[in-house]
Amino acid sequence: MKIRTAVFPVAGRGTRFLPATKASPKEMLPIVDKPLIQYAVEEALQAGAEKLVFVTGSAKRAIEDHFDPDHELEQELATKGREHTLNSLRGIVPSYASCIFIRQPYPLGLGHAVLCSRPAVGHEPFFVHLADDLIDAEEACLGQMARVFERHGGSVLGVQTVKPEETDKYGIVEADAVDAQVSRVRRIVEKPKPKDAPSTLAVVGRYVLTPAIYGKLETIGRGAGGEIQLTDGIEALLADEPIFAYAFEGKRYDCGSKLGYLEANVEFALKHPQLGGKFADYLRRRVAEGLSADVARKSNGVVSSV
Ligand code: UTP
Repeated sequence: MKIRTAVFPVAGRGTRFLPATKASPKEMLPIVDKPLIQYAVEEALQAGAEKLVFVTGSAKRAIEDHFDPDHELEQELATKGREHTLNSLRGIVPSYASCIFIRQPYPLGLGHAVLCSRPAVGHEPFFVHLADDLIDAEEACLGQMARVFERHGGSVLGVQTVKPEETDKYGIVEADAVDAQVSRVRRIVEKPKPKDAPSTLAVVGRYVLTPAIYGKLETIGRGAGGEIQLTDGIEALLADEPIFAYAFEGKRYDCGSKLGYLEANVEFALKHPQLGGKFADYLRRRVAEGLSADVARKSNGVVSSV
């Protein structure tokens, strides 16, 4: 069965990026010249999604505005002959795709955000994409996962091996290998301490879920951190359906953290068709000068050594 719907939970508070995220969701933070949510939408479209469901929170306007056509701006760019920029705006959402915005009234957790998408998704399997996990891959990560879903028929979780000391940041799975990249999940635990973690296989922000997840999310109640956790819904679903973990091809950047976000910006800037060469020159010069913060301040003419 083709997966036609992608859900983007974008209602988190993004507290790690305050004050940048006070009035605008963190999914609007740009990687070079595109916001994270646009990379997310492009990945879902490449995987075959046609219905794009955004679960938004209190600072929601920017995302709606980003995916709405801006005729005035397009007219201005056309008049100035800026065809390239104009095309980059027109291509954001193709005409065959539709955008649906649903409000999560309170940030009660990722599981709750997914539950809010139910009226727009209905009774079909769907993708869930967390835009702050940016995955740079030759084949869209969700597309890879759709193929695993076609082959095995159950929900699929995108996973990656993490350092043992990092298990308490992720949902961690215990799973039996099916082949080199796919394993069948036996158990999933939300943010276990390293000593309690069943493995170092962490779920990152990509899911193919069957609609049965909604019934579970409705009844699980609050879990870790007082939030309704998607992980707990998936654990409950394991009692009824097979669930698979898929070690995707591609490099993931944790753009929910400042360091991961900066790394992604550097890597994407180096690959940028117009910017890459000049940016690489800048980095080479900068590395030759030495990388300590003190050198940076001096080279910017700042005298304070605080
Ligand atoms: P995070 O765990 O990264 O939380 O959410 P956050 O609030 O966005 O960020 P920090 O930790 O305060 O900096 C993971 C994903 O789940 C969404 C977020 O938007 C993000 O895509 N989310 C989280 C919701 O949509 N609703 C929620 O209630 C919580």
